[in-house]
Amino acid sequence: LHYEVVLPAAGSGKRMGAGQNKLFLTLLAKPILIHTLEVFEQDEQCTGIWLAVKPEERVIIQEMLAIYGITKVKGLPNGGAERQHSVHSCMKEMEQVDIVLVHDAARPFITHNIIANLVRSAHDFGAAIAGVRAKDTMKKVREGIIEETVDRESLWMIQTPQAFQFDLIVQAEDIAEKIGFLGTDEAMLVERLGHAVHIVESSYENVKMTTKEDLVFGEAILRRRAL
Ligand code: C5P
Repeated sequence: LHYEVVLPAAGSGKRMGAGQNKLFLTLLAKPILIHTLEVFEQDEQCTGIWLAVKPEERVIIQEMLAIYGITKVKGLPNGGAERQHSVHSCMKEMEQVDIVLVHDAARPFITHNIIANLVRSAHDFGAAIAGVRAKDTMKKVREGIIEETVDRESLWMIQTPQAFQFDLIVQAEDIAEKIGFLGTDEAMLVERLGHAVHIVESSYENVKMTTKEDLVFGEAILRRRAL
C-alpha cells in the first residue's frame, strides 16, 4: 500500500511567540520541519510529499530541502489563511493516488508503525485518524462553572496523521469549500458526509510543537530515541 502526504507548513506560529515560522526552530540543531520531512522521506510506503508554504518562505524551504537531501517533495503550493485552506491547496494539485495522509508539519515524532496502521485502516475503511485516550478527568465548563463531568472512557485526543481514500477526502473538501464549512481537522469534513471515521491508537509522544515548553519535551524525546 502506498500513499502521498500533505504537510501544511504555512502557519504563523503565534502561540510559539518566536517571531518567525516555528517550523524553522531547531530541535538538536535540526529544524522541526526537517525532522518531520525525514520521517516521510524514509517511510517506504510514502511516494510523494506536498508542502503548503507561505509564498515568502518558498525559496528558503526549497534550499532546506536541498541541504537535507529531501527528494520526495512533489509540490509546494501557497498555503491559505486557515490550515484547512492550506491542505486544500495541496489537494488541488495532486493527481489520483490510493491513500492521502494529512499531517501537521509541526508533529515531528510520528512513527512508521503508526503511519502503517493508519494507511491500512484507511485502505480498509475509507478514513482513519490518529488519537490517544484522554488521560485527565474531563469536564465541560461554561462561564467558569462546571457544567458536566464527561465520561472519559469515550474521549480521545485527536492528532494527525489523518488518512483517507483519495476520492473520499476530495469529495469532503469540495463540499466543505462550497458551503464554507471550516473544520479544525480533516476528519470533521468526512464526518459531515456521514462516513465512518476509524481511530488508530497513536502515541503520547506524537506532540505538536505549539508552545515553548513543547520544544523541551521535543528535545527530550529525540535524546531518548538516540540512546
Ligand atoms: O498552528 P498549528 O500548529 O495548530 O498548525 C498546524 C499545522 O498547520 C502547522 O504545521 C502549520 O504550519 C500549518 N498551518 C498552515 N496554514 C495555516 C495555519 C497552519 O499550513 N493557515
